[in-house]
Amino acid sequence: MPFRKIAKLGHPALRGKAERVSDPRAPEIAALARDMIDTMTDAGGVGLAAPQIYEPWRMLVMRRAGAKREELDETAAVDVLINPRFEPEDDIIVEGWEGCLSIPGLRGLVPRWEKVRFEAQTLEGATIGGVADGFAARILQHEIDHLNGILYPERMADLSLLVFDTEWPAFMAARAAVRQGDA
Ligand code: NI
Repeated sequence: MPFRKIAKLGHPALRGKAERVSDPRAPEIAALARDMIDTMTDAGGVGLAAPQIYEPWRMLVMRRAGAKREELDETAAVDVLINPRFEPEDDIIVEGWEGCLSIPGLRGLVPRWEKVRFEAQTLEGATIGGVADGFAARILQHEIDHLNGILYPERMADLSLLVFDTEWPAFMAARAAVRQGDA
């Protein structure tokens, strides 16, 4: 069953705290990871957390990304992170636009830690970790939030910066005009 239905904002599946995966090497976990990758790829996302497909486990998939969104390679490998954790590497917070497959059609400007140190398990049971920066750090924080029942609008400092994708070009043009007016 490669493609799963994605839970949308309001469904209780997105609200709970997901449970730790006790055996990352279990065949059911590998099967779930495959479904998550297929579902994310089909939906055109860069990350997906298990609760988004009604599976209450602490695991996520994300397209391998660097610090810059513009450099995202849509064909890059997808990483499966099981029982992921992170902590901020320093106290720098940056704002960036985010969307979510569970909140289709919208995007918002969200403050996140710029750099995070993370640790997770793989499907082979190995522990991996490192430092993620910029866009990669943003995806990681967004997806780990899903494991704790948190959606990105709750992280926004200013809800006037929540806009429909279709209105985003007009929104950004108006913002740029205001900025030029300030100068
Ligand atoms: Ni999301």
